[in-house]
Amino acid sequence: MTGADLGAAPVGDRARSHLALALDLDDLGDARSLARRLAPWFAVAKVGLELFAAAGTEAVRALAEDGFEVFLDLKLHDIPETVGRAARVLGRCGARYVTFHTSGGEAMLAAGVAGLAAGAAEVGRAAPAALGVTVLTSTRDAPAQLLAERAALARASGCAGIVCAAADLPVVRAAAPALLRVVPGTRPRGAPVHDQARVATPEEAVAAGADLLVVGRSVTRADDPERAAACLAATIRDHVT
Ligand code: C5P
Repeated sequence: MTGADLGAAPVGDRARSHLALALDLDDLGDARSLARRLAPWFAVAKVGLELFAAAGTEAVRALAEDGFEVFLDLKLHDIPETVGRAARVLGRCGARYVTFHTSGGEAMLAAGVAGLAAGAAEVGRAAPAALGVTVLTSTRDAPAQLLAERAALARASGCAGIVCAAADLPVVRAAAPALLRVVPGTRPRGAPVHDQARVATPEEAVAAGADLLVVGRSVTRADDPERAAACLAATIRDHVT
């Protein structure tokens, strides 16, 4: 199957709202052009540490202007007041999702959630959804007890969702059934895993209950990113609701 065979995703494609494109680049212009090329398959654009270091909140503003829901993935982790104050600033910038590391604890997560709401209210926007990162997908060991504790922390502190590996979903779903489930670390079967340790295929992740897949290098570094994105969407389309 080629990208041309698959074509652009149809308008209203079911897969699109479940796919977040990790724009791990050091230049906003390059990130924007890659995002525009892949927009038929991705409703969400993720700004991570690299792009944020290069362009700051301007990256969020620009990608939102281009029509994306923006996922600001800074995995904030510091003392509660520092995180709360940073979250207030981020709450003004138009992101749809902002990540915090659950290892920071309940007070830190709650300060982050409150900060996002306060910042958004100052500019008359809806508050971004706070997502709690449980255990990084690059970490080999994720004990079930730790995952359950971190998912419960995210729930108790008012996060709207959690970020975890596909393999963690059964434990995390049991601990926090109502939270949005965001899953990075997916790869087509047999593809290079790079620095990820706990990988699954996109269809396994969706079948296990992922609501939103974060996809980076398997598409952005493919020889033909459009073709890789089209294949990805075709793979999950029948598994999403
Ligand atoms: O698909 P790929 O492995 O390239 O995705 C990597 C992206 O997902 C990076 O932007 C990384 O920050 C992000 N991410 C992750 N693991 C997490 C949370 C986010 O790999 N637990």
